[in-house]
Amino acid sequence: MSEARLVTLTGPGGVGKTRLAAAVASRATAGFADGVVFVGLGELRDGALLANLVADRLGLHDLSGQPVARVVIDHLRRREMLVVLDNCEHVLEASAGFLASVLERCPGVVALATSRQTLGLDGERAVRVPPLPVPVGDAVLAPEELEQYDGVRLFVDRATRTLPSFTITGANCDAVVQVCRQLDGLPPAIELAAARVRSLSPRQIADRLARRLPALASGQRTAPPSGSPSRPTGGRSGSPRARAMRWSRSTAPSSSPIHAAPSWHRSRSAPLRSA
Ligand SMILES: Nc1ncnc2c1ncn2[C@@H]1O[C@H](COP(=O)(O)OP(=O)(O)O)[C@@H](O)[C@H]1O
Ligand SMILES: [Mg+2]
Repeated sequence: MSEARLVTLTGPGGVGKTRLAAAVASRATAGFADGVVFVGLGELRDGALLANLVADRLGLHDLSGQPVARVVIDHLRRREMLVVLDNCEHVLEASAGFLASVLERCPGVVALATSRQTLGLDGERAVRVPPLPVPVGDAVLAPEELEQYDGVRLFVDRATRTLPSFTITGANCDAVVQVCRQLDGLPPAIELAAARVRSLSPRQIADRLARRLPALASGQRTAPPSGSPSRPTGGRSGSPRARAMRWSRSTAPSSSPIHAAPSWHRSRSAPLRSA
């Protein structure tokens, strides 16, 4: 962030963009004379209200009938501040327009955005947030060697919370690795899978994922007829298809048809000129 006034953390849903932005924001507070404002856009459905949300987070309640965006910019113009816009993908066009104006008119402001896709502004530095590391290749690793992989560590940590007697052993480590790999190292998917160790062994979880994800990731959104070989067998044990959908949604890249998100027909908006 010392090199760019706008950094956008990108990556698929669940990879950890918000978590990383929150960590950056809390460390950055001391570095900005006027501190940090963190604005979560996850619930915002109407981009026209983005400036209102920022105003609210800044504590600007008396707007005196002026356009809200102007009040916000007037407030930020003489401030040295980090503005964090989290989950911009919901309102990408509005986020890009708002940040372009702020960065152009408020020279002391630096912005951090999180979004599945970049905002498309000149001067934007996109940083792809990687998933958690998981072992790759065919080498069979011993349980103690797996500790260096954050994806495996997260699985073991969450499995142990669910089932305190859970341990990773020579007998189950291969299956644990397969689960983490099938879930592409995406934290929430690993957490959900690990939470099932009370009723399923890691091998059973890996096998269910192997059967379930290809069908879902190919965009098949309705359950196949009963008896079909690709129907998730977990239904019998109370494992809802919705869970598989959540897994797959959080694991599929945002470009996957499974996301069924609207395509963003946005023209690249006004280039960001450095102030
Ligand atoms: N490195 C990590 N270790 C443990 N949990 C993580 C990690 N990264 C993300 N998570 C968890 O995964 C979930 C999704 O993370 P989040 O930051 O909201 O993802 P994104 O913003 O990319 O959609 C959250 O519950 C978060 O706490
Ligand atoms: Mg997020």
